[in-house]
Amino acid sequence: MTQTFTIIAAMDQNRGLGKDNSIPWRLKEDMVWFKAHTSTVFTEGAQNMCIMGRKTWESLPESFRPLPDRLNVVVSRNADYNLPEGVLLAASLEEALSLADNAELHIEHTFVIGGGQLYQEAIQHDRLERLILTTIWETFDCDCFFPEFNNEAFVGTYASNCYSKSLNYSFKTFQRR
Ligand SMILES: NC(=O)c1ccc[n+]([C@@H]2O[C@H](COP(=O)([O-])OP(=O)(O)OC[C@H]3O[C@@H](n4cnc5c(N)ncnc54)[C@H](OP(=O)(O)O)[C@@H]3O)[C@@H](O)[C@H]2O)c1
Repeated sequence: MTQTFTIIAAMDQNRGLGKDNSIPWRLKEDMVWFKAHTSTVFTEGAQNMCIMGRKTWESLPESFRPLPDRLNVVVSRNADYNLPEGVLLAASLEEALSLADNAELHIEHTFVIGGGQLYQEAIQHDRLERLILTTIWETFDCDCFFPEFNNEAFVGTYASNCYSKSLNYSFKTFQRR
């Protein structure tokens, strides 16, 4: 069965995602939100898959990677890229997405979790079903940005405005029409 996938991202008000291979803000609530969405499964024995670019993998602190309770897939053109046991290497986004169709992996849902290069490709993909986006209503110094996307192809299904530690931020979800 061909599975759809979700993009999950957090950005500043100028679509900034990161700087020097790290995220310039700390927002615990967003980390909790990210973990809840990407980890939760509704079928016993299933797991979700998190696909990330090689730079995003390297941006994760060693103590946080691989992301627990999820199948981590790293996309790189370097076929010799060294990864710990249990983390899969894919040569392209397409190859990574096709892993979700492997019944032996018991993938319930697939998330593309960044970074900018991978989002750029994923946002144009016809298997993209949903976007879960956090916007932090501030400007940070960023060198990597979330791509523009065709709003008309998606309908907003959920939005919540929040405030924490002097940051205004919002959670929004978009579903393909
Ligand atoms: N705010 C957020 O929600 C969020 C989420 C994730 C990451 N980030 C931030 O985003 C930044 C990293 O993003 P980035 O755009 O620089 O890098 P990235 O997308 O994480 O990784 C880029 C790398 O992925 C591989 N890659 C990308 N597209 C590929 C393709 N089509 N086929 C094969 N390999 C491909 C290449 O690896 P090789 O060079 O090894 O071939 C490429 O150099 C960091 O600052 C990070 O903190 C932010």
